[in-house]
Amino acid sequence: MNLVADTEDVLRRLERTDLDQIDEQTAKLLVGQLAEVLRGHGHRYYVLDAPVIADAEYDRLFSALQTMEDRFPALAAPDSPTRRVGGEPLGAFQKVQHPEALLSLGNAFGADELRAWYERAQRGLAETFGEVEPALVAEPKIDGLALALTYVDRQLALGATRGNGRVGEDVTEHVRTIRAVPLRLAKVNEPQSVSAGQASLFDAAPPASPARIEVRGEAYLPKPTFERLNEALAAEGGKPFANPRNAAAGSLRQLDPQVTASRGLRFFAYGLGPVEGTTAPGTQHETLDWLRDLGFPVNERVQRFEDIEAVVRYCEAQSEQRDDLDYEIDGVVVKIDRTDYQDTLGAVANAPRWAIAFKFPAREATTRLNGIDLNVGRTGAIKPVADLEPVGIGGVTVSKATLHNADYIADRDIRIGDRVIVKRAGDVIPQVVGPIKEARTGEEVEWTMPDTCPACGEPIARIEGEAEFYCVSAACPAQTIRLVEHYASRGAMDIVGLGSNLAVQLVEADLVHRLDDLYRLIPDVLGALDGFKEKKIDNLLTGIEASKSRPLRSLLFGLGIRFVGATVAQLLVEHHESLDALAAATQDNLEAIHGIGPETARSVAEWFGHAPNRELVEALKSLGVNTARLPDEPVYTEAPTEGPLAGKTFVLTGTLPTLTRDEAKAKIAAAGGKVTGSVSSKTDFVVAGSSAGSKLSKAESLDIRILDEADLLDLLDS
Ligand code: IVH
Repeated sequence: MNLVADTEDVLRRLERTDLDQIDEQTAKLLVGQLAEVLRGHGHRYYVLDAPVIADAEYDRLFSALQTMEDRFPALAAPDSPTRRVGGEPLGAFQKVQHPEALLSLGNAFGADELRAWYERAQRGLAETFGEVEPALVAEPKIDGLALALTYVDRQLALGATRGNGRVGEDVTEHVRTIRAVPLRLAKVNEPQSVSAGQASLFDAAPPASPARIEVRGEAYLPKPTFERLNEALAAEGGKPFANPRNAAAGSLRQLDPQVTASRGLRFFAYGLGPVEGTTAPGTQHETLDWLRDLGFPVNERVQRFEDIEAVVRYCEAQSEQRDDLDYEIDGVVVKIDRTDYQDTLGAVANAPRWAIAFKFPAREATTRLNGIDLNVGRTGAIKPVADLEPVGIGGVTVSKATLHNADYIADRDIRIGDRVIVKRAGDVIPQVVGPIKEARTGEEVEWTMPDTCPACGEPIARIEGEAEFYCVSAACPAQTIRLVEHYASRGAMDIVGLGSNLAVQLVEADLVHRLDDLYRLIPDVLGALDGFKEKKIDNLLTGIEASKSRPLRSLLFGLGIRFVGATVAQLLVEHHESLDALAAATQDNLEAIHGIGPETARSVAEWFGHAPNRELVEALKSLGVNTARLPDEPVYTEAPTEGPLAGKTFVLTGTLPTLTRDEAKAKIAAAGGKVTGSVSSKTDFVVAGSSAGSKLSKAESLDIRILDEADLLDLLDS
């Protein structure tokens, strides 16, 4: 089958056919062809990740098939692509006995445990095979839920969850909705145009189609799908899932398969159960190849290794890259490649000796939520922070975690006293994922955002359309502390010796209410503070004095205006020579600056529009703080419309004797000229150096003036 040609063919036929008038005989032909083509596109999209038609075209084909099957129900094959929309809701799940138990895996925490497992396996093989160094296959351990899919005569006959390993639940109708799962196995040993061009993971000739086969793998939700699902659930007042694994399990274990269909589950195949009617491959890597040939998605990061040290390196690399993937993995499954070795090693209790899960450091733990504190940021944003019973996560003790905002707490129904799941991933701040409701005792207390700021007692407000609550009082000490801390930080005014402890001390001792108060501090007053000796006082005051001559961009950043980070501050200073000039700019003026968005422009204009802020600026100025652009700060310059080369277009080609390309470009631009990449009739000059190529010949053919470096410099001088 040639997918593209067949698709075009069927689209043409559809155009010529009136589906409402079609007779059953013609419909039968068309249905077969449509189903075939749709299967091919589904495979390309979900398995190969390489679609060749637009979604809308797919939808058109799909609805044509649906229309005909509705008209002639006898034509609807059990493995038709339309059967993925989810059948009738179930009253309850049927139990199914697995013919061969689905084992679980032992864990290796760290490289040494992995090496120890390998040595045990070698010892286990010694009696039968002598001293061997068995090859290994390493596979990302997908964090989803295990499925066993049985195909009889190539048709999907049963989909079952793992359950307790021996008895699972029949989720066949649900599995049908997972588009990455083939409803019908591809015929192997026959050229497959849908996978043409796809190199096999490993080079091996696949065995023939099996009469009956159980394929095992993991159903999972991609991270973006998971996030969208949670947003949608929260929006309709539902309960969000704690992680993609729970979301995958929850989406599959829905009595109504139509709900499952809407959830966007994916699937990776990783192994086999019983196989009948053909011989299964003799190694794990060939098994994966075969599964791929049969039409299953196989994880692209799977690799075969000859020695365990290479596997250790692979595991460590995967651990580092886990956030780059768009699905969750929680480790690497390492398997002995040869199946005869696997058989010899067998299993103890529930876990095979021939495979192990190398587990990444944990990122989640459960602990008790003792309380919810409020943190007032320098912009006045009030953020709830979880006060947790200390718990170790991946080698770090966590006792505080973010709860984001009041909506987050309400959506997840997080209560004080709950056992909660806490997650710490990479560099990000630990966060509370959600409560474990099953662990509730009834003593838990619901939480609501108070009406007043915990730091100053003034009312707090919620800005429309924002999740955050704000303390709007300019005199709020908590805000002042954060602001002083920020003002003194390295990227801002860089006041050495003024860190967060000192900021607290200064504000709580009533010495600093506003930033300008820093410049009014005197030795006598500081001497009265705890732990303030002469040297410390001296250092602090020297640091504060030095901050008066910082560049304007540092001051602007230090003021803590919402949305004005270091980069925006720099940009604003390039366009304004002083704080006064910036204060005079309107929101429109600001928005006209390339790189400043409407939110930022509004925030800056509002900040300067607020009288107390203008007073602050005046006070800083009168106390000697620099509020103007320093001579070495960059200034925005528009390309000059004047100059000796104004309006002239240049093309550079080849290597010039003394100037680099960038230097030549800058000189031309400074003189008002423009440099473009290709020669056309609009080009005025081509500057050619040594080994100039086709641009030079093109210029000659168009009769464009050609300059060398000396000519260019002459022109610039004129
Ligand atoms: S092999 C005997 N391979 O991890 C081998 N399992 O405790 C058993 N899992 O829930 C499984 N990715 O579904 C294997 N590439 C992979 C896997 C994998 C995820 C899951 C599996 C089960 C758990 C094993």
